[in-house]
Amino acid sequence: MLHKRSSRSFCVIFLLFRYCSSTSIITPNEPLSDGNVLVSSEENFVLGFFSPANSTRRYVGIWYNKVTIRTVVWVANRDHPLTNTSGVLSLEKNGNLVLFDSQQPDVAVWSTNVSNLSAAQSNNSAELLDTGNFVLQGHDSKEDFLWQSFDYPTDTLVSNMKLGFDRRSGLNRFLTAWKSPNDPGTGSYSIRIDINGSVPQLFLYQNQNPVWRGGPWNGLGWSGVPELAVVASPKYIFNVSYVDNPDEVYLVDHLRNTSIIARMIANESTGTLQRLTWRPAEQKWVNLYFAPEDRCDTFGYCGAYSDCNLYDDVGEFVCKCLPGFKPKSQNEWDSREGKQGCVLKREGQLCGKGEGFVKLPKVKLPDTTTSRRNLNLGEKACADLCLKDCSCTGYSAANVSGGGFNGCITWYDKLVDLRNFSSGGQDFFFRVDSAELANYSKKPKRSHGYIKVLVPLLIGSAALFVLIILAYWLIMKKRKGIAETRLEGIRLFGRNISKGGKSVHSTSKNNPEVDETESTVDVKVYSLNTIISATENFSSANKVGEGGFGSVYKGKLHNGQDIAVKRLSNTSGQGTEEFRNEVTLIARLQHKNLVRLFGYCMRKEEKMLIYEYLPNKGLDGFLFDDEKRYMLDWKRRFDITVGIARGMVYLHHDSRLKIIHRDLKASNVLLDADLNPKISDFGMARIFGSDQNEETTRRVVGTYGYMSPEYAMEGLFSTKSDVFSFGILLLEIIMGRKNTSYYAENCVNLIGHVWGLWRESRAMEIVDREWLGESHEHDSQIFRCIHIGLLCVQESAAARPSMSEVVFMLCNEISLPPPDQAAFIFRTSDKVLTNTSSSSVGVVSVNNVTISTVEGR
Ligand SMILES: *[C@@H]1O[C@H](CO)[C@@H](O)[C@H](O)[C@H]1NC(C)=O
Ligand SMILES: *[C@@H]1O[C@H](CO)[C@@H](O)[C@H](O)[C@H]1NC(C)=O
Ligand SMILES: *[C@@H]1O[C@H](CO)[C@@H](O)[C@H](O)[C@H]1NC(C)=O
Ligand SMILES: *[C@@H]1O[C@H](CO)[C@@H](O)[C@H](O)[C@H]1NC(C)=O
Ligand SMILES: *[C@@H]1O[C@H](CO)[C@@H](O)[C@H](O)[C@H]1NC(C)=O
Ligand SMILES: *[C@@H]1O[C@H](CO)[C@@H](O)[C@H](O)[C@H]1NC(C)=O
Ligand SMILES: *[C@@H]1O[C@H](CO)[C@@H](O)[C@H](O)[C@H]1NC(C)=O
Ligand SMILES: *[C@@H]1O[C@H](CO)[C@@H](O)[C@H](O)[C@H]1NC(C)=O
Ligand SMILES: *[C@@H]1O[C@H](CO)[C@@H](O)[C@H](O)[C@H]1NC(C)=O
Ligand SMILES: *[C@@H]1O[C@H](CO)[C@@H](O)[C@H](O)[C@H]1NC(C)=O
Ligand SMILES: *[C@@H]1O[C@H](CO)[C@@H](O)[C@H](O)[C@H]1NC(C)=O
Repeated sequence: MLHKRSSRSFCVIFLLFRYCSSTSIITPNEPLSDGNVLVSSEENFVLGFFSPANSTRRYVGIWYNKVTIRTVVWVANRDHPLTNTSGVLSLEKNGNLVLFDSQQPDVAVWSTNVSNLSAAQSNNSAELLDTGNFVLQGHDSKEDFLWQSFDYPTDTLVSNMKLGFDRRSGLNRFLTAWKSPNDPGTGSYSIRIDINGSVPQLFLYQNQNPVWRGGPWNGLGWSGVPELAVVASPKYIFNVSYVDNPDEVYLVDHLRNTSIIARMIANESTGTLQRLTWRPAEQKWVNLYFAPEDRCDTFGYCGAYSDCNLYDDVGEFVCKCLPGFKPKSQNEWDSREGKQGCVLKREGQLCGKGEGFVKLPKVKLPDTTTSRRNLNLGEKACADLCLKDCSCTGYSAANVSGGGFNGCITWYDKLVDLRNFSSGGQDFFFRVDSAELANYSKKPKRSHGYIKVLVPLLIGSAALFVLIILAYWLIMKKRKGIAETRLEGIRLFGRNISKGGKSVHSTSKNNPEVDETESTVDVKVYSLNTIISATENFSSANKVGEGGFGSVYKGKLHNGQDIAVKRLSNTSGQGTEEFRNEVTLIARLQHKNLVRLFGYCMRKEEKMLIYEYLPNKGLDGFLFDDEKRYMLDWKRRFDITVGIARGMVYLHHDSRLKIIHRDLKASNVLLDADLNPKISDFGMARIFGSDQNEETTRRVVGTYGYMSPEYAMEGLFSTKSDVFSFGILLLEIIMGRKNTSYYAENCVNLIGHVWGLWRESRAMEIVDREWLGESHEHDSQIFRCIHIGLLCVQESAAARPSMSEVVFMLCNEISLPPPDQAAFIFRTSDKVLTNTSSSSVGVVSVNNVTISTVEGR
């Protein structure tokens, strides 16, 4: 498309237009008129006159030369368009660059407007550099630019360009969106580094109103962009550097690989900050990151003194008052509005009366507009400084990049725009009065102050239990030769977690694992009569499933609500109170990708769990069904994958209980009416594992084909065994075939098959073009998913990514490490030891060592 440059004159054909021009420079004798362009020396950027889509107005702008969709990164006269093609850009006698209409040469439409140029500079030149910077320079002093377009950004930040403030000259470089794709005029959204207060912060504004706050830079990244911690890793295409010194404060994105094209923009139509990268193979821009992303990103969504928490109990209101505070208006809170925020529960000042601090872990720091920073203080001095001042409401580290606490930020007055992250974020120490402090240190809770007390306790007892289990297991293995005892591990451990809080046998109100503020949302207790009438006395017509844990019935309550009733098989070993506590804990796990547990029903031996009813049933019914599989196009499949991954992240990392599912598979992912995935059966391991004796336990383990080798062979389970199951599920979603149903010639299962093709660079062959269609639009994303799937099923559990890393890899275009040897599980025989209708029983044979798992006794 490009003709090679021939001496000073060359031609460029850009899209359908053909420009003839000379060089990348404007000199006093060679102005630039409409129809001609400047091209930078390595031909990365073009400067010239253009009209936006659906417009005939003319603007001078800079765009990428190597991007086939014209993408303008800078506009000179954004608010002063020319109406026809008689514009000229030329150097004036006074040394400034001026844009005017050739019919009216006296009227400057736009000018570089540098005021202190001397006469000696009348033969300045203007050059388009390869970075995309358009500079005005004197004849001699090539180094110091008299003016540069990088100092006057429009909506785009390209690599090497500063976003920020020059404290010496007062120059503020910030991005402002285009009004619309048809009009590059100054729009309402802007991205700026705000230096109000002593700590600079990144902001997205709409006009004068903050919309999103990236927060202060903490040495690793913006406090409100936890992804940036990952960005700092060499995997990410940007190397972001941040400078904050007495002269300047700014951010620069460097591209690690200069042949990649990427930019950051303020986008008017979406009201977001976006980072995008150009995909030459697909001829399109793809999103790498955008903000605001969710409700909690909205500036001040929860008002003062409250925390926006999407990760905890998603079904509940996201705003949570900070310790010692209550909603300012309960009405507002009840209608799920948080703007008015929270006020002190107890009147009175927090001053010199034995107050202290509660640690809020992994948060986005509150707005620092009214805070102070001292880079020389450490943690202790910082706490003292805050404690001494009655108006100080909290403190945190200014720099966490070394992993420690360096420098000190103290807050005064109201705290706003605090949010909770599942990963990333940093610790914030919040001032509370002595009563609240006593609350937190005396009674360990699952949140806030509990960590110091509970963690060592847990680690200690966990280690003890692991030892006991190990010994027990060795004995059992000798005696019975079957590896089933690890299950006891989860039971004992699970129980131990509850014991850690001391009061397992108390009511849920006092359960230490339950926040006081949250115990108001109660788990429903259904009477047996209600359930009998809802399910028409458990009629077989209403029976919709049979699983390892019992039968499932569909029911309809009097109010018309559909429910699913899971009638648990014999659980008599478990105490009533224990069961109630377990259900309460599990019902509080709420996430949009988990099936909701409404409550339970209990009468003597009979125990039932009441779930939301999902009409679409399992994902397996879609993936492996000859007709329904066409309902799931690639986009759907991808969304389902991400949904499942998010649900798993919640179970593993974000909920108050760390839950290992152990039986993740297609049939345990239900789809709602909109085909959103919801993981089911996630609480079963706990409900069954609480306090039963061995004889009455139904041992329910994973399902053949989804079990990781270390689990199948050694009974070792961890979050990484769930990751393995997820990997299998992901590959099944891509292939539309069951792992277990897959037998190629060499008895190799699905993973073996995929792995083989991967090594021969033929991985895309696993995709069934029948449902996918012949379009190659999604190939790169599918390929990425295969790659991620293979990372999840690696032989070594340690090498597998965590579920949160999986989510990040799915949603961002970071480069991925190559997968190692996938775990091969050969099926050598059909010795299936199963006696029940359960779908959750399996036998796995690995290299002729058969490990069986038995359900029931
Ligand atoms: C240009 O106008 C056409 C027809 O009115 C419209 O379909 C298209 O979306 C417009 N393009 C832009 C970028 O606004
Ligand atoms: C271009 O527009 C200007 C006013 O905006 C007008 O004075 C001039 O005559 C026009 N030139 C042509 C060639 O139409
Ligand atoms: C140049 O600067 C003057 C005053 O500083 C201002 O009034 C004028 O609008 C500026 N012109 C352009 C084209 O920016
Ligand atoms: C013009 O003034 C600015 C700020 O006052 C200064 O930084 C710059 O060096 C001056 N330029 C020239 C050419 O004197
Ligand atoms: C323009 O630049 C030349 C050097 O190439 C220099 O000799 C000449 O004096 C300059 N003209 C003026 C007016 O400064
Ligand atoms: C920062 O200061 C500017 C000007 O004083 C003001 O317009 C803006 O709203 C302030 N930003 C914040 C977050 O207070
Ligand atoms: C990242 O940027 C910093 C500052 O510009 C530079 O010193 C460093 O070498 C860069 N690292 C990489 C991997 O590009
Ligand atoms: C830079 O990116 C190009 C194109 O994506 C790729 O071919 C090249 O290998 C990359 N270089 C490095 C050092 O990663
Ligand atoms: C703004 O975002 C929308 C949606 O992602 C996209 O279609 C549009 O091209 C973006 N605008 C710019 C200027 O890139
Ligand atoms: C932050 O801390 C790290 C490690 O302690 C140090 O290298 C770095 O210079 C600090 N950054 C700032 C801005 O103080
Ligand atoms: C953030 O969420 C976690 C769990 O989701 C919770 O333990 C923690 O207390 C929350 N932090 C705050 C400040 O609410």
